[in-house]
Amino acid sequence: MSEIKALGYLGFSISDPQAWRDYAENILGVSIEENNDGDISLRVDSYAWRIKLKNSDHDNLDYVGWEVSDKQDLESLKARLSDQGVEFQVGSDELAKARQVQELIVFNDPDGTRCEAFYGPLQLTNIPFVSPKGFRFITGEQGLGHIVLISKDHTAQEAFYTQLLGFKVSDYINTEVIPGKPLNISFLRCNGRHHSLALAPVPIPAKVAHIMLQVDNVDDVGRAMDAAEKAGTHFSFTLGRHSNDEMLSFYTMSPSGFDVEFGWGAIEVDDDTWHVKVHHTNSAWGHKFQRPPRK
Ligand SMILES: [Fe+2]
Repeated sequence: MSEIKALGYLGFSISDPQAWRDYAENILGVSIEENNDGDISLRVDSYAWRIKLKNSDHDNLDYVGWEVSDKQDLESLKARLSDQGVEFQVGSDELAKARQVQELIVFNDPDGTRCEAFYGPLQLTNIPFVSPKGFRFITGEQGLGHIVLISKDHTAQEAFYTQLLGFKVSDYINTEVIPGKPLNISFLRCNGRHHSLALAPVPIPAKVAHIMLQVDNVDDVGRAMDAAEKAGTHFSFTLGRHSNDEMLSFYTMSPSGFDVEFGWGAIEVDDDTWHVKVHHTNSAWGHKFQRPPRK
């Protein structure tokens, strides 16, 4: 259906590395590695890294890495981008080395979010991933998890990811998270995960609404919740069960201001039988929105 097989990695600029170290290890239960250049790499599985946090004076989503199977698929994607007049650059050897992948290309989506398509991520089977909390994350063919981008030009964004990059629409949620403010969110998949990408046209300057990590044990959702409460972390959405992917999850605000959804139990989509659906509620229950504390 698409050369793109999964959400591979994410890169952020962050302004508070110590807060991120605490948040990543103690609440999310991912492992952290301090890089020579001062950046922090987060691991959740055999991949050398999945989330890169770059020390900065501001907080921002820098890039989204989409994984393709091999060189042939990367060439096929390059050809289609060329045909459709989408500019891309072939990543330099230096960039491929920094990303710890075999090869990559770089291009922007219509909202200007930097996308990278790559194959050949380094696997650290010699240094097994060990969660400081004992968590096991659902990745593999379903990739890292999902990211929800704030769409500025929603129609162009959905067309770009579906018609050009080959994502499929799983469903739409047409709802009002905040009463009186209609919100129509598109959920897009590139593998069995219900959505690796969602597009939410919220009129705020941020680029990313949230990212999601999924664990294989419901009790670990509870343990992460306990740790977040103990640390005094803001819960952006309380515990709940989503209407569409059926994820049981809660959301906390990361030190960068975007949320991290931490969940368990999502359905997997079978392409042969799935049909596009519409929901009018975010959640079957729970997921009560809580305004962030004023700074
Ligand atoms: Fe989510």
